[in-house]
Amino acid sequence: MKKEMLVAENTYWVGYVDDRKVPFHRLILEKGTTYNSYLLKTEKPTVIDTVDISFGRDFVETVKNHIDPEDIKYIVINHVEPDHSGGLPALASKAKDAIIVTTELGAEELKEMYKLHDREFLIIKDGDRLDIGGKTLRFFETPYLHTEETMITYCEEDKVLYPCDIFSSHVATKELFNDLAAEDIKEDFDVYYKLIMHPHRPYVQDMITRIRKLDIEMIAPSHGYILRENVDKFIDTYDEMSKPSKEDKEALIVYSTMTNNTKKIANYILEGLEDKGIPAKVIKADKNTNIDEIKEAILKADAIFFGSSTRYADMVGSIEDVLKELKNMDLSSKLGVAFGSYGWSGEAVEVINDYLNESNINVVDRSLIIKSTGMDDVQFPIRIKFNPDEQGKEMLYKSVHTVGDLLVG
Ligand SMILES: Cc1cc2nc3c(=O)[nH]c(=O)nc-3n(C[C@H](O)[C@H](O)[C@H](O)COP(=O)(O)O)c2cc1C
Ligand SMILES: [Fe+2]
Ligand SMILES: [Fe+2]
Repeated sequence: MKKEMLVAENTYWVGYVDDRKVPFHRLILEKGTTYNSYLLKTEKPTVIDTVDISFGRDFVETVKNHIDPEDIKYIVINHVEPDHSGGLPALASKAKDAIIVTTELGAEELKEMYKLHDREFLIIKDGDRLDIGGKTLRFFETPYLHTEETMITYCEEDKVLYPCDIFSSHVATKELFNDLAAEDIKEDFDVYYKLIMHPHRPYVQDMITRIRKLDIEMIAPSHGYILRENVDKFIDTYDEMSKPSKEDKEALIVYSTMTNNTKKIANYILEGLEDKGIPAKVIKADKNTNIDEIKEAILKADAIFFGSSTRYADMVGSIEDVLKELKNMDLSSKLGVAFGSYGWSGEAVEVINDYLNESNINVVDRSLIIKSTGMDDVQFPIRIKFNPDEQGKEMLYKSVHTVGDLLVG
């Protein structure tokens, strides 16, 4: 399917229009979708995001219409999910010297997924700039929009934001730009927001605050239309829809870990809450942690999950610095849950539970669950030996759903 290719000066759309009914995240996208990839043909040619894993070969052919892939200097991966990074192995095999630009977590995941251990990566941190010869890119970390490793890219000279999943819509559009759309795109845009972004709305608010400081003339997302008319209106829509309302409940997950097993549990808890429409923030408590920031997040949340693995019968990281603060805070309207990965005895989870009991938080334990729901087949606190197997994961989701039900009553 042919599209008008030019997006900005020396910048070409090299994506793929998928006009099937696309299965996606347990849904069917009736109107199909697009995977928008962009080639910035500067002195150091750069590709921003790729296409779905099913279309890697078509993607490389599209890129070849514009450039010899061997000349590509950088491949920016904003988001690791395979609908955007899926074209990377095919492109990287032709773009032999290209450096892959992504977040630290993104790099870890890409290496594992596509066996790219031998490739050169450029790890970006929030706010970093990259000179690509004639244009300057800036990167901002936007965790959980859509998954944890995600970032967005902004081209300073063109004033174009490349936010990947954010500001997308699922439409197999033949037109590139929103002002050329034959139909009103508002509904598709809103539906996409609700399905994909709304469960992460506290993070949407953080992102909006930061992009408000940029001068944005065009938003070039990775699904659906490029927005170049009424750009501010689309940003305002996200801002409005993600504002917390009084009835909305929010959760917080604070954890410490040695080897990320407890972090994996934290992310499963996040998914379980998402199923119940409850947004959650995830904070790792380590030596870089600002305790005041965590206290503020605790006061904002309606349910707080405190996690740690066990090391020599004790907690790890800086979670204890957080727990010590609890008895001086009014947590009487909140639910508190202890969790953690362990090897054989799992004392840390029990110690966390002791701290919760010393505060005035409502500790979610077996007794509270039985008294409020009558269920006796979920286990609190949440103790997971190393990593949960499939059965353990189901149990974990069930426990988290129960907390969700307690919250939304
Ligand atoms: C140095 C060390 C000490 C440990 N001590 C304990 C312990 O006392 N009790 C226990 O149940 N597990 C113990 N473990 C096992 C860890 O709790 C287990 O590997 C857990 O999955 C790690 O989770 P994490 O990756 O979130 O840190 C220990 C592990 C290490 C490396
Ligand atoms: Fe995604
Ligand atoms: Fe996507």
